[in-house]
Amino acid sequence: MKHLFDIKQLNTKALEALFETADKIKNTPITETKKWLTGKTAMALFFENSTRTLVSFQLAAQRLGMDFCALNLAQSSTQKGETLKDTLLTLDAMQTDAFIIRHSENNTQKKAAGWLDNHSQASVINAGDGTNQHPTQGLLDLYTIRHHKGEFNKLKVSVIGDIKHSRVAGSLVDGLHILGNRNTWIYAPDALLPESSPANKAASMNQALQDADVVVMLRIQKERIRQLDSDTLDNWHDNFGLNASNIKLAKRDVMVMHPGPMNRGVEISSEVADGPQSVILEQVQNGVLMRSALLYHLLNSQQ
Ligand code: CP
Repeated sequence: MKHLFDIKQLNTKALEALFETADKIKNTPITETKKWLTGKTAMALFFENSTRTLVSFQLAAQRLGMDFCALNLAQSSTQKGETLKDTLLTLDAMQTDAFIIRHSENNTQKKAAGWLDNHSQASVINAGDGTNQHPTQGLLDLYTIRHHKGEFNKLKVSVIGDIKHSRVAGSLVDGLHILGNRNTWIYAPDALLPESSPANKAASMNQALQDADVVVMLRIQKERIRQLDSDTLDNWHDNFGLNASNIKLAKRDVMVMHPGPMNRGVEISSEVADGPQSVILEQVQNGVLMRSALLYHLLNSQQ
């Protein structure tokens, strides 16, 4: 595999291989892993804001000994009218091995790979495209679940919030489906449900939370929502929020997840976000490992 656009490119065997590589990286001294991709260069182009994904890709690349450059788009020549295609070809001429791209338009990374494939061996990694996919977030979420629960197919996993606009939900639900889970549930106001999904639709918050092994809370993607009535927004926490009271419906050892950034008091209370069942910061930690594992697999398959 040269590029990663969508988690659906990976089958069970490929996912398991990535998890095992992440385990190996975790258990190998950094002085050793730094030799694995020495001399390779990763270039990040983030056309949307990011904290976790951008920084963890930088740390992931550096952990493998790669050079990493994040183009500051606000100060780049895209502001003088240079097209994305010309920007990519320019950076590729500087011997880039991996482009890590986040963009507000769905499928931009596929287009980028199409332009680059005629010129270079560079891999393109989707760091989030519009409302479509965020495959590395899906990978780190699955890796975190695997670490705590060991297997996937018997778990009840509930994803709650703005599912329709969430590329995180898209990749996680698809990943769980690939791994054989048929007990994934989504819950949102009707206006924020996707047209189609391999997950089951819960009829209520109670149904979504009842006996859940994993609960994934999502923020409202206000930057992508064209219209949502103010009543729904004003009463979000009461109807779609996770708190110390309703979490009791889930299993005692439920894992509480959130991809971040969180809106405390809206989709999740601070008590739960900072509570003993929360693995939110562990997800962040695992992001570095999974992104290292992905870079290692993509760039090694190119040699
Ligand atoms: N989860 C996630 O994509 O976070 P950032 O937007 O901070 O990268």
